[in-house]
Amino acid sequence: MTATQVRSAAFDWPRGFDRIPDADWVRQPVGEFGLSYDSVGAHSWYKNLEPTVAQVLAALGENKLLVDYSSGTGILARRLLSSIDYPVGILNVDASPKFLRVALENFRDDERVGFRLLNYLKEKKRLQSLDEVLDGHLQADAITSTNAIHLYYDLADTLDSWARVLRPGGLTLTGSANLRNPLRRSGDWIIDETVAKVNEIAADLVAREPAFEQYRETLDDSAAMAGHTRLREKVFVPVRPLEEYLDAFTTAGFSVLHVFDATIYAQVDEWCQLLHTYHDGVLSWVGGSPKVDGREPTEEALRDRRFLIRYSLEKLFPAQASFPCTWTYITCRR
Ligand SMILES: C[S@@+](CC[C@H](N)C(=O)[O-])C[C@H]1O[C@@H](n2cnc3c(N)ncnc32)[C@H](O)[C@@H]1O
Repeated sequence: MTATQVRSAAFDWPRGFDRIPDADWVRQPVGEFGLSYDSVGAHSWYKNLEPTVAQVLAALGENKLLVDYSSGTGILARRLLSSIDYPVGILNVDASPKFLRVALENFRDDERVGFRLLNYLKEKKRLQSLDEVLDGHLQADAITSTNAIHLYYDLADTLDSWARVLRPGGLTLTGSANLRNPLRRSGDWIIDETVAKVNEIAADLVAREPAFEQYRETLDDSAAMAGHTRLREKVFVPVRPLEEYLDAFTTAGFSVLHVFDATIYAQVDEWCQLLHTYHDGVLSWVGGSPKVDGREPTEEALRDRRFLIRYSLEKLFPAQASFPCTWTYITCRR
């Protein structure tokens, strides 16, 4: 526990609900990938959590339950719990066992924090819904989703499941930098759109620099490149308009109370670190990927990939330490 963390009385999880489930992912070791994402919480652009933290602190009373949907490694829970000195429950729910495993490592001994994995149901080709995972045990007083709603390929189904779990009058608090907000200030980036630019700049360098000759065959093969683009768009998904999210919330039975946005600066260096973590989703055509062409990239290809990501970001933001991005926040009531 750090000096700034505040301990409070334990939260009463309902009878029959184990805050740490008996599941395979719980017994797995903590991995590098998850730890690497956890360190992103210290990046300057993670200032994006501040509005959501302020909203939760204002809305979540004593003995109330927050579901942090797509919690990742629990970065939001850490910030909240350092400011809350009364009993609350925070259930971290995520689709990634690797991220959730890091969250468990961070909060295993904190009785206020629970964990649930949204399993992928292969035969149904979808993730489990929130209500399937909670199985009638819990009703949430608020649901947060930070830096994730743009990833929901099944947005309507996801919001329907939130409506089934949230108590009437409960709030959803979402924030994302990856939706097209018509009020975005000119010059602000949609943060994930830097990845397509990185691809263009890297492709241009590979096409003319002899040191990268070995990657040209893939670059010139449009069918192969289409496969790499598909992988990229799974990780950095094409952006949808704000209106689509507002319609989806309304259709799922929520009232949209408030939409606001903020310009937040991302440090080029820190964004580079994140793109290095997700290098496979950024530049898999440099050296190949088991997910696209069955090739495992060599150490040399991985070095080139990292170099090309850094080079392209420096070209994209010449002599700039940071770049502005718009985060958009949507508040709804059930
Ligand atoms: C960029 S991370 C954000 C994590 C955390 N909320 C934060 O702000 O640090 C996105 C999270 O969304 C999760 N995710 C991706 N696709 C999802 C989906 N379809 N449904 C639910 N969660 C998803 C990922 O596992 C990951 O933890």
